[in-house]
Amino acid sequence: MIDIQHGCCLSLMGSLPDRSVDLVLTDPPYGNRETYGRAKRAILGDEHPLVALSAIAACYRVLKLNRVCLCFINMRQLPFVEGFIARYTNFKIRDVVVWDKRDMALGRGFRKRYELILVLEKGRPTYTSRSLANVLVSKRIPRPTHPHEKPVDLLKTLIEHATTPGDLVLDPFMGSGSTGVAAWELGRRFIGIELDATYFDLARRRLQQAA
Ligand SMILES: C[S@@+](CC[C@H](N)C(=O)[O-])C[C@H]1O[C@@H](n2cnc3c(N)ncnc32)[C@H](O)[C@@H]1O
Repeated sequence: MIDIQHGCCLSLMGSLPDRSVDLVLTDPPYGNRETYGRAKRAILGDEHPLVALSAIAACYRVLKLNRVCLCFINMRQLPFVEGFIARYTNFKIRDVVVWDKRDMALGRGFRKRYELILVLEKGRPTYTSRSLANVLVSKRIPRPTHPHEKPVDLLKTLIEHATTPGDLVLDPFMGSGSTGVAAWELGRRFIGIELDATYFDLARRRLQQAA
């Protein structure tokens, strides 16, 4: 089952039942106010991190007990985000996983090569593998269709670690649908939400091709 919805996750998640989701795996806008490409296109919700934080807080209700929310996060916002989660949600911050992209980004000084993934636990989840490190190596996407497109192999590693076949995965900030493709390929059910019509159509096409 793949269910994708076009709109704001803060309102659409309201229709999801309590404790119905087995894994939240998401990559929200970081609140960087960045623009991309010649057209200087902005990511919706990137004005500030409060949209993302409100959605993470809402994910607690829909997540089953003893399950986990895995959330990509900007390193610069880590102290602020950790403070918010500790103060305003019941999630326990279990860990911060490093995604090592193998290659450096363009730039100067210490050129960026990693991103972070927050591990937020509801209750006391069990994980399928006993031998997954908190540093995961996966090559960045060379020509992404979405400025923040995440590699499907990395997402599959995260999904396999936290779910079993048939489980329900939610991505409230679906973008180009990478989480949905990973979930589908692993035989998990998927609910994805995306606000931007262009990226919603892109996700729909990708998921149609994958299915
Ligand atoms: C960092 S991107 C996700 C990229 C995705 N991981 C991928 O591989 O393509 C975040 C996405 O959240 C979407 N977004 C922003 N605010 C939203 C909201 N309130 N509800 C749903 N989606 C939203 C943006 O349009 C953007 O596509």
